[in-house]
Amino acid sequence: MNNMKQLHKQSIANQRRDEETPASETLPYSPKSLKHTSSSRYLSRSMNYILKEQRLLFILIGMLIGSTFVIFKPSISTISIAENSSDHDITSIAISNRESITHFPRPVNQAVGRIPVSIGGKRRRVVVTGGSGFVGSHLVDKLIARGDDVIVIDNFFTGRKENVMHHFSNPRFELIRHDVVEPILLEVDQIYHLACPASPVHYKYNPFRNYWDYKTNVMGTLNMLGLAKRIGARFLLTSTSEVYGDPLEHPQKETYWGHVNPIGVRSCYDEGKRTAETLTMDYHRGDDVEVRIARIFNTYGPRMCLDDGRVVSNFVSQAIRKQPMTVYGDGKQTRSFQYVSDLVDGLMALMEGEHIGPFNLGNPGEFTMLELAQVVKETVDPSATIEFRENTADDPQKRKPDISKAKNMLNWEPKITLREGLPLMAADFRNRILNEDEGKVGK
Ligand SMILES: NC(=O)c1ccc[n+]([C@@H]2O[C@H](COP(=O)([O-])OP(=O)(O)OC[C@H]3O[C@@H](n4cnc5c(N)ncnc54)[C@H](O)[C@@H]3O)[C@@H](O)[C@H]2O)c1
Repeated sequence: MNNMKQLHKQSIANQRRDEETPASETLPYSPKSLKHTSSSRYLSRSMNYILKEQRLLFILIGMLIGSTFVIFKPSISTISIAENSSDHDITSIAISNRESITHFPRPVNQAVGRIPVSIGGKRRRVVVTGGSGFVGSHLVDKLIARGDDVIVIDNFFTGRKENVMHHFSNPRFELIRHDVVEPILLEVDQIYHLACPASPVHYKYNPFRNYWDYKTNVMGTLNMLGLAKRIGARFLLTSTSEVYGDPLEHPQKETYWGHVNPIGVRSCYDEGKRTAETLTMDYHRGDDVEVRIARIFNTYGPRMCLDDGRVVSNFVSQAIRKQPMTVYGDGKQTRSFQYVSDLVDGLMALMEGEHIGPFNLGNPGEFTMLELAQVVKETVDPSATIEFRENTADDPQKRKPDISKAKNMLNWEPKITLREGLPLMAADFRNRILNEDEGKVGK
């Protein structure tokens, strides 16, 4: 009886469960599950085919796709930089000891590592050390006008910011306050090395400064040559006619080895430049650095220091200030005077040409100091007077360049005569002396 009751309970429970359970679960199969099974079978068959039967072929196809991507990736990213950037892009870093990191603009088509900047674009990147000085600032003007990117390095010992101020808003110009005695790292195509305290008052009368000038010539030149070697840039040294000393040969050819007093008051400059020439040639011979050497003779023009002790600037500023022009010795020593734009043309012809040098860059027109005073009288102030003073030690008696080498090999010669150039310089001096006087009155 009990068994009968239990069987009845069981059948009721089963009936309820059947009523609560969805029909689908009770069905023996569904068409959906059949489809799923056939597609996974198909997938596993394909995988089998790829991984086992055609494994080698598919590995090769994978490698091909991968290498294609690696090869084309850099050019794809360069194109996207060029498309997304403005004319200039910051891609390079200048490191100096003074200003730890300076970013500067560089054209995007010149963005790749050590490849010389000029490749693939016309624009050069050029460094001018001493670029805020007299000659340097005129060189910078011409390089910028040509379309180069120019970086000036200067410690403003004798240079002035005013000389390059007109470029401050130009994105292709950069000014770094730095002493070339310390190393610097930059990425450029050409280095014009002018940094050097060049005028006699700056190098003659202070023994400490003398030592410093020698250090500038030696350490500064070494540092800039080291930079040229490292980055593969062309290096131009602005040497001087002073390497000929008090010459025994007249006019001076580049083959003349000179007559220099190695222990005199001018030696820091003369011997400093001679050492700089030696270092330049050693870097060329030993390390294949592309070098150029210019031996510059007396140069004058606007932006010279007003009171730097050089004869032309002395005479012109004295005449403008109504002071007597000081002539040292009997005034019969000779010099040749070159206008600054002629020198700049010569320096650029030398840098761009295929010849190392040294090349004399000067105007062969020869004047005694008394003749120069006379020209200043005629062009600046007819009432100017002369005062004679005792001559300074080691003052060369004669100076006149033989420029036939530069004429033949660089196709260069000066064009501006002293009578044409002096009034241009005098106009600039007049303005500055007037402003100076106005400044004093205002104080
Ligand atoms: N002007 C000439 O008649 C003449 C003649 C022969 C050679 N040179 C050579 O031409 C170059 C330029 O002469 P310049 O007449 O323009 O003279 P400058 O004195 O007007 O210019 C020299 C520049 O170098 C900078 N300078 C000096 N020491 C430096 C240093 N340690 N680090 C960084 N900058 C430094 C000065 O501040 C200045 O701006 C010099 O190398 C000079 O020896 C000039």
